[in-house]
Amino acid sequence: MTDLVLTEVRDGIMTVTMNRADKKNAITLAMYDGIVGALAQAAADTTVRVVVLTGAGTAFTAGNDLVDFMQNPPDLNGESPVSRFLAAISTFPKILIAAVNGVAVGVGTTLLLHCDLVYAADTARFSLPFTALGLVPEAASSLLVPAMIGHRKAAELFLFGDQFDAARAADLGFVNEVVPAADLAGHVAAKAARLTALSPSALRLTKQLMKSQTPAVAGRMKEEGAIFGELLRGPEVAEAIGAFFEKRKPDFSQFAA
Ligand code: COA
Repeated sequence: MTDLVLTEVRDGIMTVTMNRADKKNAITLAMYDGIVGALAQAAADTTVRVVVLTGAGTAFTAGNDLVDFMQNPPDLNGESPVSRFLAAISTFPKILIAAVNGVAVGVGTTLLLHCDLVYAADTARFSLPFTALGLVPEAASSLLVPAMIGHRKAAELFLFGDQFDAARAADLGFVNEVVPAADLAGHVAAKAARLTALSPSALRLTKQLMKSQTPAVAGRMKEEGAIFGELLRGPEVAEAIGAFFEKRKPDFSQFAA
């Protein structure tokens, strides 16, 4: 496993840490595979009851690595690390907790829709900047977010892609609870410890019952993936990502509506 994804198992809890703090934990292909491997290990290890996903340093994750997006555009419907990651988090059978310690961009926010419990530091910030990147939502978020908050509020988040704070994330339902940043790790550890004392079969089956919509989720991921993959290879995304690294605003005026 890459040291860009760290795992530690203690007292029935596996902590998976995205560990690329200098790049705000932007997720590379190797990191997607690292997380997939960790989740497979956690699912198979009968001593692991709960998994906590978090980020090193001050960020949760800046989302997909934008260099990878350009150099190795993933095939979201084929055998790519990204599609393996989306399948793994959306079907993970044990309890998955996210400890959002900082900025959560793109897939950093949409992956939360597949976690069972989400705790955020008061300093955490969330965004779904897909349109600004010339892209569409992924991780079945185009299905799950409107189902959670209705079309209008979802449209506001997805169309403008503006950053929102932890209190608003809790209001909207992305987050269970917001705690002071310094208390996040301890708060999540206490919640995870409570779960380890409960019946593992009851936890697994309760989650399974709540996730009975999984076939629709997989179908939407496929649909999103086809569009996302096509856009990723097009000129509007090239303009958007070029602009990010050149530290300027993208110019979409050259493209026909
Ligand atoms: N892919 C690749 N590199 C990234 C990245 C990403 N998604 N996000 C951040 N980085 C890199 C920056 O290029 C920078 O690298 P450098 O130090 O070599 O210049 C470093 O990480 C730190 O980022 P910086 O932008 O300086 O930090 P910040 O605190 O000012 O802002 C973010 C943090 C996350 C708000 C900002 O980096 C950002 O918007 N990133 C892009 C997020 C994105 O669009 N993700 C894809 C979603 S689908």
